[in-house]
Amino acid sequence: MFKSDLLKNKTIIITGGGSGLGKSMAMRFGELGANLVLTSRRQEVLDGAAQEINDKTGAEILTVPTDIRHSVQVGEMVNKAVDKFGNIDGLLNNAAGNFISPTENLSENAFRTIIDIVLVGTFNCTQAAGKAMKESDGGVILNIVTTYAFTGSGYVVPSACAKGGVLAMTRSLAVEWAKYGIRTNAIAPGPFPTKGAWKRLVPPGLNIEKKMMERVPLKRFGEHEELANLASYLMADESGYMNGEVVTMDGGEWLKGAGQFNALEKMPNLAWKAMALARRKKK
Ligand code: COA
Repeated sequence: MFKSDLLKNKTIIITGGGSGLGKSMAMRFGELGANLVLTSRRQEVLDGAAQEINDKTGAEILTVPTDIRHSVQVGEMVNKAVDKFGNIDGLLNNAAGNFISPTENLSENAFRTIIDIVLVGTFNCTQAAGKAMKESDGGVILNIVTTYAFTGSGYVVPSACAKGGVLAMTRSLAVEWAKYGIRTNAIAPGPFPTKGAWKRLVPPGLNIEKKMMERVPLKRFGEHEELANLASYLMADESGYMNGEVVTMDGGEWLKGAGQFNALEKMPNLAWKAMALARRKKK
């Protein structure tokens, strides 16, 4: 879908790049010629991902174990990236933390932990990478949010609050940092299965996975490749006029929940025909 050197000579930091969607997006960036800086908390996870991505793409990869909640660690990670590659062209804020819980059962620390990872962590990375981008030719900040960043959602309130904050950060910096040549955008993915997310968010039994799929008008979950291609486009110079945008990729899921009459899809054809007949009789 893209020319093979779309991201050549670009250095992109991917937080949470050792597994799940972060690894899939890193893989695609690598295929398209980017140098990669992978961060997550565990070195062994990063090593495995780096090996796999390098084997498949030949990309140059730096791994830096980092807890994004700590600004000092984030600053060191960005310095190492600049030392190795010269400058930073892209930051993918993908790392997150989440779990499901009735809100009345949450401790203050539970709430704070998710805010720290998602909102403070994204801020730390954005500020450190943004300063480096400001010193060079600018760059792209791409934030992975979620559709419930704008709809809200029960049972994931800390995550909804944090992702809502990241969305506000996206739109704020799109304006404030445009003068440094930094574009800031977000992707709001719907359900894209990963081991980590499914373990935390999809309770076993109860047929929840099937119900989740039925909520999607396209009747399927997203493919990692689909998200990775969108992220690549938004990272590339070819999307140079996209700034402050949040692109939803969810198979139509959230709109289905929002549209007042969408439940009419359950109305049988016979009922539609009976209504049409009744209308004709009146004429
Ligand atoms: N329900 C309610 N509270 C929970 C919880 C759950 N499922 N999981 C953790 N908590 C609470 C803990 O009890 C603790 O609060 P307390 O000190 O008042 O008891 C607080 O949250 C912090 O938990 P802890 O396990 O110490 O934090 P951590 O920093 O080690 O881990 C998590 C952070 C909980 C987000 C962990 O799941 C994680 O590391 N996730 C990273 C990957 C991820 O979540 N990706 C997103 C996939 S969708």
